[in-house]
Amino acid sequence: DMMAELLGHRRLEEKLKEKLGVSQAIVVAGDSDEEEWVKQELGRACVDELKRVAKKGDVFAVMGGTTLAAVANMVTPDETLATTTFVPARGGLGEKVEIQANTISAEFARRSGASYRLLHVPDQLSEEAYHSLVLERSVREILDVITSSAVVMHGIGDARRMAARRDSGQPFIETLKREEAVAEAFGYYFNANGEIIHKQRTIGLQLGELEGKYVISIAGGHTKANAILAYMKNRPSDVLVTDEGAARRLLSE
Ligand code: F6P
Repeated sequence: DMMAELLGHRRLEEKLKEKLGVSQAIVVAGDSDEEEWVKQELGRACVDELKRVAKKGDVFAVMGGTTLAAVANMVTPDETLATTTFVPARGGLGEKVEIQANTISAEFARRSGASYRLLHVPDQLSEEAYHSLVLERSVREILDVITSSAVVMHGIGDARRMAARRDSGQPFIETLKREEAVAEAFGYYFNANGEIIHKQRTIGLQLGELEGKYVISIAGGHTKANAILAYMKNRPSDVLVTDEGAARRLLSE
């Protein structure tokens, strides 16, 4: 029954907190690898958490991906959120437009009544272009807004699946295999110990700039268990929003 299910989730949340070192874990029913509606539940839980911590005038930085797209879809008009600004956390990472951080942050804003700012950067940046781009006044302005964000919401992906989705090319995929990449988040690739083995060159928030921000990680599905574990070894978030599928696999239940 529902009470038993709820208690079951509370127990999983406690165990996850202990295993991952996160301050808070939220587990929703189901497995998003098996059923599509579970992503909506992840979205609902994440939106509740966002509304709980949101303060007037806050800036929220969001990453891309199908999970964050599902979160944005669950947003409803809100008085506090209407005073806030959504921005992409980082520039393009080779994703389709529907699941790019820019698109998702605009969707968050449209549904909640908030403002948004876009970050226009090509996905593949040469070292040279990168350095001149960050000197542009308009780019510096939006980067300052991103840096001022109070809350960051991001997804976590399986390393090789992410590289394939981004058409990163066979040589790169081979490198990831050789270096035993497990997780991807924020455009960084991690091994099972949570060590960074590769970083995609783009502007916006760097992993080291998350200090002092409230970080909400959202990732579900049993096939993401190892990725979640690896990423949390690098930097346990303030909140992990996940599903039963990932939680049970993570705890090998
Ligand atoms: O590319 C953006 C991103 O947030 C990645 O950092 C992350 O690995 C991935 O999307 C998660 O995607 P999905 O929610 O579709 O699994």
